[in-house]
Amino acid sequence: MIARDLVASAQLHRGEAETLLATVLDVDRAWLFAHGDEVLAKAAIDRFNELTHARREGEPLAYLLGYCDFWTVRLQVNQHVLIPRRETEHLVEWAIEQIDAGASSVLDMGTGSGAIALSCKASRPAVAVSGLDSSPCALDCARENAIALGLEVEWLLSDWFSALNDRTWPLIIANPPYIAADDPHLVQGDLPAEPASALIGGVSGLESLLHLIQHARDHLTDGGWLLLEHGFDQGAAVRAALQEHQYCSVSTRSDWSGHERLTGGQWRR
Ligand SMILES: C[S@@+](CC[C@H](N)C(=O)[O-])C[C@H]1O[C@@H](n2cnc3c(N)ncnc32)[C@H](O)[C@@H]1O
Repeated sequence: MIARDLVASAQLHRGEAETLLATVLDVDRAWLFAHGDEVLAKAAIDRFNELTHARREGEPLAYLLGYCDFWTVRLQVNQHVLIPRRETEHLVEWAIEQIDAGASSVLDMGTGSGAIALSCKASRPAVAVSGLDSSPCALDCARENAIALGLEVEWLLSDWFSALNDRTWPLIIANPPYIAADDPHLVQGDLPAEPASALIGGVSGLESLLHLIQHARDHLTDGGWLLLEHGFDQGAAVRAALQEHQYCSVSTRSDWSGHERLTGGQWRR
């Protein structure tokens, strides 16, 4: 079978089918445009059919490829980590503003693949970056990404703040799990394949966010900032919780679609 016909037979979005075939053949997608008539080896066809079958069954494209591009870095991803989302790049932007304003170290809570921590380190190599997660498998993935990218980050295994003793940071950032346990989105798209512990923020979806807001105060330096990603409909609740816990300069930022997506506040002792 020729490449063009194989792509057409995949019953997938054409871009996804082309990306999978390019991966199998170890070429880039541009090669496929010029070589659509190329007759393919049986082993390549069999591998492509395996991958496209898995994709139709709901396996996320990023897991099949084994990587995801985020900010300026390529990250290995697997079933133990959330696939980094474009919206989270807004959190990296805000973190970098704070680093440029003087934050000399940053703690990324719930680091997963290391996406936020490694992006901060790649963009601002002088800052000391720590990435924390309760999942040893996620930390293995983050650690491997750091090695592949040649970036030095401290990795911490901890249930939120429990293993941090009295350490403090001028900047704590987090994209915690924030979906309600009964949210119908959990059974749609790629979400069923991603770890529930990366997605579900308790019954209301706000539990992890509220925990971070309450306890980050003990781990922020005077004037330190807590920056949080949250669901598009959680901005008011997160602002209210930050104000209730006496953070100042509380503000929210929206994503490209205009949805409230990030909220932060400053802690003054
Ligand atoms: C939404 S994912 C974010 C992953 C990554 N930061 C990103 O933006 O792509 C949330 C992460 O929080 C971690 N997590 C969940 N509960 C946690 C806890 N109690 N303590 C530490 N990390 C936790 C999960 O393992 C997951 O990696």
